[in-house]
Amino acid sequence: MEAATGMAAPTAPIKVAAICGSLLKGSYNRRLIRLAIEMSKETINGMEIELVEVADLPLMNVDLEVDGALALEVEEFRQKILQADAVLFASPEYNYSVTPVLKNALDWASRPPNVWAGKAAAIVSTGGGPGGGARAQYHLRQIGVFLDLHFVNKPEVMLSVHNPPGKFDDDGNLVDPKSKEKLRKLLISLHNFALRLRGPC
Ligand SMILES: Cc1cc2nc3c(=O)[nH]c(=O)nc-3n(C[C@H](O)[C@H](O)[C@H](O)COP(=O)(O)O)c2cc1C
Repeated sequence: MEAATGMAAPTAPIKVAAICGSLLKGSYNRRLIRLAIEMSKETINGMEIELVEVADLPLMNVDLEVDGALALEVEEFRQKILQADAVLFASPEYNYSVTPVLKNALDWASRPPNVWAGKAAAIVSTGGGPGGGARAQYHLRQIGVFLDLHFVNKPEVMLSVHNPPGKFDDDGNLVDPKSKEKLRKLLISLHNFALRLRGPC
């Protein structure tokens, strides 16, 4: 829609909630999210990524839902997801699946009303094995079917820490230019898809 001046009407930025499935202080996946935040600030107009913490969520237990009210940490987390247009998951792989930390967050925000529903989503992962977290990513996509998350398909960003070596520096930061470019393309893809889901302004 054009404004009276003939200029395109400003579009509200796409807000992205970024969730890390690792609680480790030196988490590689958390560093990927930090890199994505930097990249989006520097090179992608109209996209704001915020890291949403999940460490303080209680373990899923519906007994904690008292007369429909949830623990404050859970309510705050659900609100952040609700207010986001899109979700960026950084998902380590534990025993061929997503981590319990991530599943716990997914489950809390799925309680009625499911606040994941209809959102655009993307996944990045890095893991110890050669698959770079691929199995966890596909499990996450499967969970997303029931949650009504809409994942972008490409590019797939699955980075093995050790194979081949040298993609990450000694501090755990991604330094490989090709992998960084892939991550940037994934962010652009998420941005475009979220705009499409939002529809015409
Ligand atoms: C309980 C456990 C199970 C794991 N299982 C896998 C696995 O199935 N595949 C894999 O690639 N790495 C596996 N790993 C290694 C982690 O993916 C690796 O440590 C990764 O760096 C964790 O991400 P983070 O640095 O963001 O915490 C496992 C680690 C733990 C602690």
